[in-house]
Amino acid sequence: MKKENILEVRDLQTTFKLYEGLLKAVNHVDLTVRTGKTLGIIGESGCGKSVTAHSILNTVQAPGKVEGGTVMYRTRDGKEVNLAAEAPNSKFMRSIRGQEISMIFQEPMTSMSPVYTIGQQMVEAYLTHQTKKNRAMKLEATERAMEMLQRVGMQNPKQRMNDYPHQLSGGMCQRAMIAMALMLNPRVLIADEPTTALDVTVQAQITDLMLELQETMNMSIIYITHDMGVISEVADDICVMYLGRVMEQGTAEQIFLNPTHPYTVRLLRSIPKLGRKIPGARLDAIHGNVPVPIDPKNECGFCSRCLEMKPGVCDAGVPSMIEVEPGHYVRCFLRGKEGA
Ligand SMILES: Nc1ncnc2c1ncn2[C@@H]1O[C@H](COP(=O)(O)OP(=O)(O)O)[C@@H](O)[C@H]1O
Ligand SMILES: [Mg+2]
Repeated sequence: MKKENILEVRDLQTTFKLYEGLLKAVNHVDLTVRTGKTLGIIGESGCGKSVTAHSILNTVQAPGKVEGGTVMYRTRDGKEVNLAAEAPNSKFMRSIRGQEISMIFQEPMTSMSPVYTIGQQMVEAYLTHQTKKNRAMKLEATERAMEMLQRVGMQNPKQRMNDYPHQLSGGMCQRAMIAMALMLNPRVLIADEPTTALDVTVQAQITDLMLELQETMNMSIIYITHDMGVISEVADDICVMYLGRVMEQGTAEQIFLNPTHPYTVRLLRSIPKLGRKIPGARLDAIHGNVPVPIDPKNECGFCSRCLEMKPGVCDAGVPSMIEVEPGHYVRCFLRGKEGA
């Protein structure tokens, strides 16, 4: 591993064996997270973002399976471990989840229980990782929970501890989930569409909150979204996914100033611009849907929707990643040295 990186994913492959065929949800994916920085993963729904996140945490459920690749992680005590080689339910993996890498979801109810109060769940999340579960420890957990709720901007944290999730608004629930994810002071936070279900003002507040927490806690973040606007606010590095593959990656600056893959260009055109008043101007939506990658053809996955598609070139194989400028990679036959 490079010393500035906390996580290096290489050649990750995750498949679902279905009756219809082999669904390649994550198809030879490479990702790098620099310590203390935010990697944004962007792509339309169905591109493989969530399955990538679960593959990193080794929480892919059957019929899904991580078939190959490595997930190298640098632990708190400086060891380099391959999480993909660990048994999903091993003691070691359980100690990684929550304490080293924590995940928050679009839908708070995926990680929160409706039948326990916010406080009970936060305390429990803390205690499961402690060897001693005495009263002093419980008190410590309660104090930590209140501190975290305060940090994520909840008013009256003491009272909120006694609330059930359904008693909170969407934004507050999302804050509680972030607080819960931070209970064990993780070093990497994977946020999977954390603001998608919220309205725009609350979305901005949650995004700001995460950036502020990142600074004070020196956290590394993987921020997953289908929204280019959000990515532009948070990411240091960007990885564009399509049909289970990384199509383009580079620093945020490279992706926004010099978007190179036709898919990235189209995603960028779909961001609404303030004050755009050109008559008849419309947001440039990408027509068609992301296909399902069951037994994918040996071609560029985007070619069926690409406006620049060249028959005989783009459907003649899977393009490899080409470096178009230092650290900026693109998977397209029509770009870089392979293209014209
Ligand atoms: N449990 C599952 N069973 C079968 N297919 C799945 C399952 N979960 C995800 N997939 C498929 O894997 C692909 C990637 O899904 P996902 O990672 O959830 O996309 P994203 O998060 O980018 O919207 C999709 O084609 C989806 O249909
Ligand atoms: Mg998803």
